[in-house]
Amino acid sequence: MSGATLLDGKALSSTLVESLASRIKDEQLAPHLHVITVGDDPGSKVYVKQKRTTAEKAGIIFSQTCLLANASLPELRSVIDQCNRDRNIHGVIVQLPLPDSLRAHEREVLNLVDPTKDVDCFHPENFGLLALGEASFLPATPAGILKILDHYAIETRGKRCVILGKSNIVGKPLALMLARESGPACTVIFCDQHTENVWELTRQADILIVAAGKHHLVRDPSVLRSDGEVAIIDVGIHRVQTAEGKTVVQGDVDAAALRPHCRWLTPVPGGVGPMTVACLLEQVVEAASNFSKPVAPLKRLLRGPDIRLTRAELVSLMRKIDPGFPASELQLVLDGMKAADDGTIGFHAFANWAMGALQSSSTASA
Ligand code: GUN
Repeated sequence: MSGATLLDGKALSSTLVESLASRIKDEQLAPHLHVITVGDDPGSKVYVKQKRTTAEKAGIIFSQTCLLANASLPELRSVIDQCNRDRNIHGVIVQLPLPDSLRAHEREVLNLVDPTKDVDCFHPENFGLLALGEASFLPATPAGILKILDHYAIETRGKRCVILGKSNIVGKPLALMLARESGPACTVIFCDQHTENVWELTRQADILIVAAGKHHLVRDPSVLRSDGEVAIIDVGIHRVQTAEGKTVVQGDVDAAALRPHCRWLTPVPGGVGPMTVACLLEQVVEAASNFSKPVAPLKRLLRGPDIRLTRAELVSLMRKIDPGFPASELQLVLDGMKAADDGTIGFHAFANWAMGALQSSSTASA
């Protein structure tokens, strides 16, 4: 194969995983991802193993609950509830697809995950925030694609981006993220199996994203811009048998046929897949960091010299750290702290108390 530059998601994901490992050390986090699987979908087994291996590389704690394919909805609900309540778990994902018996309840199940631990960004609250441009979590595959475009400096602003596939996991959130005017600012054309004259649209694409779940859906060079100035992002992952009886992994795009006719192309494997895993883990670290936010800055300040602050300054500081902390309780605590003649209180003493109070109040609310 020659032609397009291959967009190396594997190398980029390794860099991201290394940066996550450093961030975990710097912020003294103990991020923990819990994956719930139901049944034994062979694809899910592979993906979950990749999540586990990469999490371990980044220094993220990984745990898993495996339910049998005949698990009931109440059983699954109970596992999700336990994870929601466990203060040491920061990210919870229910691996899809669910078995046939639970598939009709997929939305109900995803809605049960605590939005603050919904690192997949599947909960309606998080998806809604994403749609408003105020994302709390970023969905992994779209986030990985945006990072690839950014890393390779592929122009997005005002460019025509054609997406084949409207799934809730990839196509839909990706369209929102690419279209964001203060972000990539693409002009997005969003297609499904009903789209009329779809190949006329792909012929206009500066960026073509194929997330249709159909092996080698795009294989004819005549559906691309004739000048070859197109970036192709292949989201498909299919295990197929070659004529020689070998099993290989290929995408929604026939890379051998199209590489000579485009400028950039993500390989399968080694393109979007590894970036998806790394971006999911980035969201777990984000969740862990959010969880410890009030405590982390106090920990950092405790490493510095002690200073003396007035009661009013400490009250105002506590209000910023935890606006919900009861004012009357705070006054009592300050009354009990040793004050100097001028009424000031040592910051270290206050910070040590505040860290304990914040940790126990988040335990109580978890
Ligand atoms: N199955 C395939 N992709 C995904 C994903 O991104 N998240 C979950 N939970 N399940 C999946």
